[in-house]
Amino acid sequence: MLAIDHGYFQGPTTGLERIDLSIVPLLPSCDALFCTRGILRSVIPAEGTKPMVLRASGGPSILKELSDEQIAMDMEDALRLNAAGVGIQVFIGGEHETRSIHNMTRLVDAGLRYGMPVMGVTAVGTNMVRDAKYFRLACRIIAELGAQYVKTYFVADGFETVTASCPVPIVMAGGKKLPELEALTMAYNAVQQGAAGVDMGRNIFQSDAPKAMIAAVHAVVHQNLKPKEGLEMYQSLKAKG
Ligand code: R5P
Repeated sequence: MLAIDHGYFQGPTTGLERIDLSIVPLLPSCDALFCTRGILRSVIPAEGTKPMVLRASGGPSILKELSDEQIAMDMEDALRLNAAGVGIQVFIGGEHETRSIHNMTRLVDAGLRYGMPVMGVTAVGTNMVRDAKYFRLACRIIAELGAQYVKTYFVADGFETVTASCPVPIVMAGGKKLPELEALTMAYNAVQQGAAGVDMGRNIFQSDAPKAMIAAVHAVVHQNLKPKEGLEMYQSLKAKG
């Protein structure tokens, strides 16, 4: 899945200033798109057939306390837009932890009325330690409280314990932009250690060659291509333009 929902709290972040120019050409290469309903309605071509997972939480911008979120769309609108799922932040350990969990459980209940899966996203506060212990806690709570799948970050030490202790599928978020080989290695390791897939954004749309990078990530995730082979694929596609 290609994540381009960042504008819901970051505005026109690097690589997403012109989604019509930077992201629409990538649509044929992704399995699904994670975006906001605003972008889906205003920018994504209506004739597209890719599954859309919609960002369903929001509230604070990067200028405020990020855990202060609410549910930001009705389930009926997700149905109207033919969404394949909805996603929501859960701030375990954050200032508004309880409310963010309550947001998620309300969204899950609404989704269950219509058969709409909910992706719970482990949203990590800036002052929290991003280690396996934290992600085991966060992913398990999100799954126990009803999310049908969880998006979380990769950790080099013990990621397999995060996937093993979470009873629903996990997709890996990419995080900040890394050199291509590091990003491909992270995606490879996540899948080898039990992730069902990835939901990457910046490591694709901030790459020098996003089309080549999404193809390489796809091959690493779906064809078990080794990271170095993925990098060769990226370089070769990049050279072809
Ligand atoms: C998370 O809060 C954002 O909404 C993104 O969907 C998520 O971080 C994945 O994107 P990236 O790979 O850029 O971290």
